[in-house]
Amino acid sequence: MDSSQTSKNIIVLNTIEQVRKQVKNLKLQNKIIGLVPTMGALHDGHASLIKKAAQECDEVIVSIFVNPTQFGPNEDLDKYPRQLNQDMEVCKSNGASIIFAPSVNEIYPSDEHLTYVVPPEYYQNKLCGLSRKGHFNGVATVVLKLFNIICPDQAFFGLKDAQQLIIIKKMCKDLDIPVKIVACPIIRSNDGLALSSRNAYLTRAGRAKSITINKLLFKIQELYNTGLKSKEKILEIALKELNEDIKLEYLEFLNLNSFKKIDLLEKNTLIAVAATVDNVRLIDNIII
Ligand code: PAF
Repeated sequence: MDSSQTSKNIIVLNTIEQVRKQVKNLKLQNKIIGLVPTMGALHDGHASLIKKAAQECDEVIVSIFVNPTQFGPNEDLDKYPRQLNQDMEVCKSNGASIIFAPSVNEIYPSDEHLTYVVPPEYYQNKLCGLSRKGHFNGVATVVLKLFNIICPDQAFFGLKDAQQLIIIKKMCKDLDIPVKIVACPIIRSNDGLALSSRNAYLTRAGRAKSITINKLLFKIQELYNTGLKSKEKILEIALKELNEDIKLEYLEFLNLNSFKKIDLLEKNTLIAVAATVDNVRLIDNIII
């Protein structure tokens, strides 16, 4: 879509100038603005973020931008699903009033000599940061750009990308960014699989294998509830849940506040997993 278009009460804006003008008008009316940053291919997980934003704010802007700087050279940038028309419906029916869908050139007019936000190594050299080098530089950079373009009062992120959420909160704290970051719970389908745009790549058989990832996490929770605390002992039992074809990239236990790896489970432990199922990389987590 090249220029601003309306579909009933939703506006799609493609340029920074258009969105800034719209935001200026809303701010003049003292509207509280909520931003839901996304890469599109919206599912019920995004819908829940938009709904939450609509409850908390007067106007909800959803950004839809497949951000190239957060994809590594061998990742799925080109095949990442793009479906603006369907996404518009999700935005509209959950209470958003504006979609900001810029082109790559609008956000990165020159890909040379770009100033990046570099989150601390301490937060990057764990979990997804280990296999996705530079990923969080790309995420933090684009999120800060969106914050500077839209100046939202609040921004809504899913807990599924727990490391991303922690890094964005840290960026806001360290750089005095006046945006309230709202963490929203993971949404799962009936079989327990955490919703993700990448689930669309799974075959029926792949999906059946994938649900053993959440079974593993819930088994850990169950074992903790029965009094088991040792990571080693818990994993000895819980790992049996995982389908044998699944390639585990990491399964880490971290304290949610210090982001330190731990061996004894306690309250506020993030248990995060990344795994590949038939070449589809999936992540999931629970918080004890
Ligand atoms: O979580 C996502 O979809 C992306 O990482 C985000 C936050 C929209 C930045 O591109």
